[in-house]
Amino acid sequence: MNYILRTYDLTKTYKNLNVVDKLNLNVKQGDIYGFLGKNGAGKTTTIKMILGILQVSSGEIELFGNKILDRNCYGRIGCLVDYPGFYLNLTAEENLEIHRRMSGFAAKDSVKKTLEMVGLKNIGNKKVKNFS
Ligand SMILES: Nc1ncnc2c1ncn2[C@@H]1O[C@H](COP(=O)(O)OP(=O)(O)OP(=O)(O)O)[C@@H](O)[C@H]1O
Ligand SMILES: [Mg+2]
Repeated sequence: MNYILRTYDLTKTYKNLNVVDKLNLNVKQGDIYGFLGKNGAGKTTTIKMILGILQVSSGEIELFGNKILDRNCYGRIGCLVDYPGFYLNLTAEENLEIHRRMSGFAAKDSVKKTLEMVGLKNIGNKKVKNFS
């Protein structure tokens, strides 16, 4: 069985308190995985460790079968942690263009097509902070 993500006793400690405590996650290739937990359970902390945003206190992370985490594995991951990743002072088109370029695979006309699809074809220069 292929796993795209595994953690081994993953732990994050803040001032002697384990906010993530020996977590063993196993996510198989092709799965849609819901990561649920009550407020403050450590979900965001876990995801940030997986993404290399936060340092691991102890334990290990394996991505795509590899425990050596470098730009090859992070380049294969798209992430939005807690909030949608939009720049509020840019337009919808400008925001989508940034995501299109970062994703590295979407065709140039995909931004226009996407805006059309969601009813924002003629939205012009309206900034994202002014959307409902
Ligand atoms: N920088 C920090 N320093 C100390 N404690 C922290 C820090 N960041 C998070 N915590 C604590 O770690 C615990 C886990 O926080 P985390 O944000 O990972 O939870 P969560 O599961 O994402 O919660 P929520 O459902 O509210 O999003 C919480 O008790 C939080 O107060
Ligand atoms: Mg959270």
